[in-house]
This record gives sequence, structure tokens and C-alpha cells, in this order.
Amino acid sequence: MTKSITVLGSTGVMGRLTLDVAAHLGGEIAVTALAAGQNARRLAEQVVQFRPQYVSVANPETRDELCRLLDGSGCVPEIGVGPEGLARAADVPTDVVVTAVVGAVGLIPTWRAISRGATIALANKETLVAAGDLVMPYAAARGAAILPLDSEHSAIFQCLQGATGSTVSRYLLTASGGPFRQTPASELAQVTAADALRHPTWSMGRKITVDSATLMNKGLEVIEAHHLFAASYDTIEVVVHPQSVIHSMVEFADGAVLAQLGVPDMRVPIQFAFTYPKHLPRPDQRLNFAQLQQLTFEAPDVERFPCLRLARAAGEVGGYAPCVMNAANEVAVEAFLQGRLSFTGISAVVEETLGRIPSGHPNTVEDVVQMDEEARSVAVQIVRESR
Ligand SMILES: NC(=O)c1ccc[n+]([C@@H]2O[C@H](COP(=O)([O-])OP(=O)(O)OC[C@H]3O[C@@H](n4cnc5c(N)ncnc54)[C@H](OP(=O)(O)O)[C@@H]3O)[C@@H](O)[C@H]2O)c1
Repeated sequence: MTKSITVLGSTGVMGRLTLDVAAHLGGEIAVTALAAGQNARRLAEQVVQFRPQYVSVANPETRDELCRLLDGSGCVPEIGVGPEGLARAADVPTDVVVTAVVGAVGLIPTWRAISRGATIALANKETLVAAGDLVMPYAAARGAAILPLDSEHSAIFQCLQGATGSTVSRYLLTASGGPFRQTPASELAQVTAADALRHPTWSMGRKITVDSATLMNKGLEVIEAHHLFAASYDTIEVVVHPQSVIHSMVEFADGAVLAQLGVPDMRVPIQFAFTYPKHLPRPDQRLNFAQLQQLTFEAPDVERFPCLRLARAAGEVGGYAPCVMNAANEVAVEAFLQGRLSFTGISAVVEETLGRIPSGHPNTVEDVVQMDEEARSVAVQIVRESR
């Protein structure tokens, strides 16, 4: 039976890979709604190829450009604008909403998709980091499944198939270690955005690539795993595995470890979220074990990469702390990408923002949105002070 999908963030790396999978699956997937930010040209191409009923863009200028580009194409989707346009994309009645926008902007549309019981194919980890304590019970109450797209969480999800009733003793999240895995601490303050954007194994959007370089991405994933698998933090471990061949592992109570391996290609976990519980054919490259030579592992260095420690600690504290940590990180990463903050300044801004905002617990998703805004303005101020 054909599944209808909405792709939030269709013009980004994950969004484009999702549409590539949708095209590969052909008649099994109907692309009904798309949401993008400001890339009108790429969105117009997607509209012509997939003919969605509804699209949204971040601002009126992008909408006007999209209309010009679609003029004469025969495609006349309804077009929404801004945060409400994005949330309305999630309201379009589809089977699956792929959340591939970057940042906490994904929270409200994810919430709206859950409220109508849609399956969430979740790439936007920031949503679970900021509001996992509210999102997970709400999804359970609305009967909305949340399926992971992140390769690590998809790997764990795959390892857990058929394991109902088993006790998991450890969730082992693998990390490539990023481009600065072997960079001495004394040189990290001088690395540039261009250096950080050269990821050794994965091709990703700018924000997540910097998060991978600081190991914040792995910290966000620790919190994501806590929520997705109802895993206590003491069972979640990070293992640096530079080859990115093992995407993550699960250790059961008897000591048996299951790992999921594959070439680093996000289309595999994306497709699995659509075809779950089945694995269907894909045309991609395969692992060549004879050429692999070695798979290596090491402990992460939280002295050189304090973001991993900060994120885990914020997750353990809970309440507003992960939301504050995430918002501060988004501000700091943007400042780093614009050359206004050093690489080592990112963790400093996150730590200082956490220190300035008192703890507390959100009761509603609106509380989280408000705290996200407050934490951003505190972090912006701290970035200014650091110059
Ligand atoms: N890339 C990966 O391999 C990977 C793997 C696992 C998880 N993830 C997660 O997936 C998410 C997306 O990552 P990515 O690498 O695909 O990022 P990306 O390439 O930067 O794409 C971000 C997408 O979000 C859209 N967007 C940004 N701000 C928006 C706004 N205010 N309103 C509407 N749309 C907005 C962008 O639109 P425009 O480009 O049109 O402005 C773009 O479509 C992140 O949460 C990331 O952590 C990514």
C-alpha cells in the first residue's frame, strides 16, 4: 500500500536523501507535502518532480521566488510561509512525517504531527533533546510511532528487532571522532569553520558537521537514545570508531553484543524507516570485508571535547537543562561558522549559558519554546562578551 509522506527540511542533506529514497521506492511512497527554508530553486525542482499538494518556505521573499520558478510548470501547490506554514505542513494528513529540519525549529511541527497520530521518521534530534520528556509520552498517548533516522539510533533499533523481553545492559553509540580526533588540545582554539566542515566519513549539513567536530552531536545522540529507547544514562556509552562501519551496538544482559554494520550512507536508515520491519533492496555500495582491513575503537576524550560531557550532564539533570544546552549550542555553532567565536568557545558558551539560567521543569511544549528563546538571548549575549 502506498504511504504518503511529508518532508520537513526537504532541501537539506537529509531531506534530499529522503526524496532520493522515495524516488527509489517509486509507487510505494507519495510525497504529499514539503517544507523548506530559503532554497527556492531546489524546492521548485522537488515540486516539479514530486508534485506535492502543499509546500512551505521560511519567508515571503522565498515564496515569491518559488512562485516565479513554478510559473508555467503546471504545479500549483498551496504555499505556506514562516513557522505557521511549517507547522501546517505537519498538519497535512499523511502517514509519515520526516523531520529533517535543523534545530529546535523542528519542535512545534513535530508536536503537531504527533497530535494527529502520524508516524514520525525523526532526523531532527534537537526536538527530542529540547523536549523529549514531553514528546515521548505525548507520542505514546496519541499512538504516534517515532522511528529513528539517525544511523546510530536506527542501528540500535535494528539490533533490538526480535528482542522483546530481553534486558539490554549497554547501548553503545559509535562516533567517528570527527576531523579533530587527533588534533592536540593546544591547536583546537585556532581551527577554522572550513577545517571543521571537512568531516572524514559523512557528508552532512553545516550545523551537524560542526556538532560532529565538537562531539556535541554525540552528546545530543546520548539524550536522543535515552528518550527513544527509555534507556537510563548509565547504560548509554560512546565509543569512538573512526571507520564509521559499525553504526552502533547493543549489549544484552548475557554479554551478547549485536552490532549493525554497513557503508556510511544515510539512505539505508531512511529507507528502513519507510519499509520497517522489512529490509528491501537498495542499489548502494556494499561493505567489502576483505578490503576493510581493520575496525578500531577508542574512548572519547571529554577533556578535548567537553561538549560531550556537557550534553550528557544536561541530559542527566533533565528539566530545562537539555533545552538550554541545545539552544546555546545552536547560537554558538552559528557564531563559530560566521567567524565570531573560536572552536573552543562553543563549549564555553554552552557551559556559561547553562550556568546563568536557573533549573526548572517545563510543563508544556510552549514552556520549552519560551525557554529556548530565553537561552538563545543569553547565549547571544555571552558570545558578544567573549569578543
Ligand atoms: N545530515 C545527516 O547525515 C544527518 C544524520 C542524522 C541526523 N541528522 C539531523 O537531521 C537534521 C537536518 O540535518 P541536515 O544535515 O539535513 O541539515 P541541512 O542540510 O542544513 O538541512 C536543514 C534543512 O532545514 C531547513 N530549514 C532550516 N531552517 C528552517 C526554518 N526556519 N524553517 C523551515 N526550514 C528550515 C533548510 O532549508 P533551506 O536549505 O531551504 O534553507 C534545510 O532544508 C538535523 O537535526 C541533523 O542533526 C542529519
